[in-house]
Amino acid sequence: MLRTTKTEFPVDKVRRLLEPGPIVLVSSAHKNATNIMTMGWHMVIEFQPSLVSCVISSANHSFEMIRRSRQCVINVPTVELASTVVKIGNCSGRDVDKFAEFDLTPAPATQVRAPLIDECYANFECELVDASQVKKYNMFIFEVVQAHVATAPKYPRTIHYRGNGEFMISGENTRRYRKLFRPEML
Ligand SMILES: Cc1cc2nc3c(=O)[nH]c(=O)nc-3n(C[C@H](O)[C@H](O)[C@H](O)COP(=O)(O)O)c2cc1C
Repeated sequence: MLRTTKTEFPVDKVRRLLEPGPIVLVSSAHKNATNIMTMGWHMVIEFQPSLVSCVISSANHSFEMIRRSRQCVINVPTVELASTVVKIGNCSGRDVDKFAEFDLTPAPATQVRAPLIDECYANFECELVDASQVKKYNMFIFEVVQAHVATAPKYPRTIHYRGNGEFMISGENTRRYRKLFRPEML
């Protein structure tokens, strides 16, 4: 068995090991404005309906835009957009039009008013289906009602935040362990 030497680790930093799903860009629209924020704190919570929970700080401009419009688009960027992803996270839609500032293309969605970000590998149109955890945890539960995914490459080079200014870039893929799965678990 794999044994390792361990040291005590601060509980407020466990996110560095648990967090790394892909960093996403959340686009929103409310009244005549659109906006984009960078987000790492998301989690899939159901297959069917397709539910995703997201923590959006109430300090963010996106918070009220999404709470009021009850919609957003979760966009999955690849490493080519990494600098833009960080810069989007460093400023607020209160002060900047982020589509114009970062030269991103808003494309019309089919089910929601929030725009897709054309430069991203995937775009998931979302409706807010449960706001019961917003007050306590700033946690929004969205249903993905429409999804658009690039036809190539098969494995996008997504970026995964480890905290402290460090990204992991998705790399090796393997089917070596596939035979160990019960079929219904695939
Ligand atoms: C890598 C990274 C991950 C982030 N993850 C989150 C997150 O999960 N939730 C959140 O509320 N803010 C997160 N932020 C911060 C927001 O992106 C940032 O506050 C953003 O500028 C808000 O924009 P807005 O005021 O236009 O909504 C993250 C920022 C970065 C750079």
